[in-house]
Amino acid sequence: MTQQSPSNGEVHVPVLLEEVVAGLAITQGDTIVDGTFGAGGYARALLGAGAGRVIGFDRDPDAIANGPSLVPDSRLTLIEERFSQMEQALRERDLLPVDGVTLDIGVSSMQLDQAERGFAFSNDGPLDMRMSQSGQTAAEFVNEADEAEIARVIREYGEEPRARKVAQAIVAARPLSRTAELAAVVRKALGHHAGMKSDPATRTFQAIRIHLNAELDELEAGLRAAERSLRAGGRLAVVTFHSLEDRIVKRFLRERSGATPAGSRHRPMAASGPAPSFTSVAKPLSPSDRELARNPRARSARLRTAVRTDAPAWDQERAA
Ligand SMILES: C[S@@+](CC[C@H](N)C(=O)[O-])C[C@H]1O[C@@H](n2cnc3c(N)ncnc32)[C@H](O)[C@@H]1O
Repeated sequence: MTQQSPSNGEVHVPVLLEEVVAGLAITQGDTIVDGTFGAGGYARALLGAGAGRVIGFDRDPDAIANGPSLVPDSRLTLIEERFSQMEQALRERDLLPVDGVTLDIGVSSMQLDQAERGFAFSNDGPLDMRMSQSGQTAAEFVNEADEAEIARVIREYGEEPRARKVAQAIVAARPLSRTAELAAVVRKALGHHAGMKSDPATRTFQAIRIHLNAELDELEAGLRAAERSLRAGGRLAVVTFHSLEDRIVKRFLRERSGATPAGSRHRPMAASGPAPSFTSVAKPLSPSDRELARNPRARSARLRTAVRTDAPAWDQERAA
């Protein structure tokens, strides 16, 4: 997701909304997990499509606190928790198995727009970037990590080719406390001029946010938790915002549906592995031209859907 806010006054414009609802093939009374409640755009549409119950997870306490006013509906249950922990949370409430799970990966416009959350360089604020509002802050990371670690994070999670140069500049400029300061350091290191297609600080901000919130580990664990939580015939719909995330979903569904090439160097013959736990893995969907005209922010979004088989989940719950 980019740093722009919705221009139409909505708190967060849901992305690929119609496609997600269609992909979950709701039938009256279904119980659906919305693992990334955010501003409740998906939850509202799922209830409107006939879901009997939506369980909304979010790790951000603000999203959970605002939820009842954004989606005032007694069929909505909100849980402040990471989606990787959904199986345990659903079991405690006697809600297993569920008919559908959706994940909409990334940050919400509500988070980006609040300068004090420190996610956006266009909105000067303290260097924070923690979705759950606990744990290491972005300021602690940039001021305390060694240069090699900062470079690794920026290279791996930001896919920034000049990560070492950025890391050197950050270390030379320490201590940093504001998002605008960090953005200025990155722009100076990489060169910045008006009219550039994207701000050079975008990749560094994305990288630090992904690192602090362990977002890629969460996504992998969330997919496995969904696999353990869905009934046979239940559906999974996952929206991602960049290639690092999409690759994880693609690989997971390819592997779990038995489509990983048999006999590859890294994996023995598929036939000898566990039975496929997902089927009907659809081609990824991108936003329509109509959606992009309304919401250019959605341009890199991808939706992947699949249907759970009756085979056991491939691995047991892992303590997080
Ligand atoms: C892109 S927004 C979701 C927007 C939502 N679909 C809507 O229509 O309003 C992502 C939300 O997921 C939350 N989130 C991100 N990672 C999470 C995780 N691992 N567990 C739970 N919530 C998470 C963020 O705090 C944010 O509120």
